[in-house]
Amino acid sequence: MTLGYPEPKGSFDLREMISIYLKAKGIIASPSSIMVVSGGIQALQFISLGLLQRGSAIFHEIPSYLQSLHVFQSAGMNLFGIRMDHDGIVTEGIGKLKRQHNGALLYTIPNFHNPTGILMKETRRKALLAACINERLPVIEDDVYGDLWFDEKPPAPLKAKDDQGLVLYIGSMSKTLGPGLRIGWIAGPEPVINRLADIKMQTDYGSSALSQYAAAECLSSGFYSQYIEDIRTALKNRRDFTIGLLNRYFKGIATWDTPAGGFYIWLKLKKTLSMQKLFKLALREKILLNPGNIYDRNGHSHLRLSYSYASFPQLEKGLARLADIIQCMD
Ligand SMILES: Cc1ncc(COP(=O)(O)O)c(C=O)c1O
Repeated sequence: MTLGYPEPKGSFDLREMISIYLKAKGIIASPSSIMVVSGGIQALQFISLGLLQRGSAIFHEIPSYLQSLHVFQSAGMNLFGIRMDHDGIVTEGIGKLKRQHNGALLYTIPNFHNPTGILMKETRRKALLAACINERLPVIEDDVYGDLWFDEKPPAPLKAKDDQGLVLYIGSMSKTLGPGLRIGWIAGPEPVINRLADIKMQTDYGSSALSQYAAAECLSSGFYSQYIEDIRTALKNRRDFTIGLLNRYFKGIATWDTPAGGFYIWLKLKKTLSMQKLFKLALREKILLNPGNIYDRNGHSHLRLSYSYASFPQLEKGLARLADIIQCMD
C-alpha cells in the first residue's frame, strides 16, 4: 500500500471488495458507483451539501437516529416525520406529504432501526419503493446495522430492487468492526457518486488510506465474514440476556418487542413519566438513559435500551435499579 492521497472515491481495492460484498446482498454496484466515506454520517453530510438545497423537505421515520437528523437540520433542511408501525415506516401518506411540502428526499433505516430496533418487512419495503417511485422521491437507505441479524437474514435492501436509480445506499463498518476505523460507503448512480466525490475532495482529500487498506484486507481475507458471525452470536446472547432481565424486572411496567438484530430495544413504559426527572434520578445512580423524547418530541413513554456495550453484571444491576426508580415515580 502507499500513503499518498487516495482517489476521490476511495481506494479501488476497497471499492472492488465493497462491490462484491454488496452483490451478496443483491445490490449490483460497480466500483465506480461506490464511494468510500469516513463513516455513514459523512455520506449524509455530503448528500446535504452536494445534492440538496437549503430549505428542502426531508422525510424520515419518527422516531429516527438523532445525529442523522442533526446533519440535515444544520444544512438548513426542513424535516417531516412519518409514523412507524411494527412493519416499518407507514407508507400510506407519503404521496400527499410529498405534494404538500415538495419533498426532496426520504431517509430510512430499514434494518434494525435506531432507536426502535424495527426490521422493515418485505411487503413494506415493496410498498415504500413503489410509493417513492410513484412520487419520484429519492431515498437514502441507511443500512449500518444490516449485517447484525440473529436468526434470519433481513429481506433484500431497497437498493437491490431499485431499477430507477432512486436509492442512495449507505453502509458502514462502524457497527461491526469498530467506529474508530471511520470507514463507510455510499452506492448510487455514477453521476451522483461523481458529484459526491468532488465534495469529498473539497472536504478532506479522502478517508484515511490506512483505514481503507485495513478494511479492504478484512473483506478480501474472509476475516470480516468470520468476525461478523462471532459478533452475531455474541450480540444474540446479549439480546437474550437483556430480554430475560426485562421479563424479570419490567413485566408490570413496560412492553417491548424482541429485536431480530441490531443493538436496540425500544421500551414502552405503561405510564407517562417526566423523562427529565427519570433521567436525573437514573443519572444519580450512574445509569445513563436514552429517553424516547430525544428521538421524538412526543416520545414521553419510551426508552431506548442498548444491549451491545454494557457487561452482563452492569446490565443486570442497571435494569433492576431502573425498574425500581420507575416504580417509585408517580
Ligand atoms: C442509523 C445510523 N446511521 C449512521 C450512524 C453513524 O455511523 P458511522 O459511525 O458509520 O458514521 C449510526 C451510528 O449510531 C446510526 O445509528
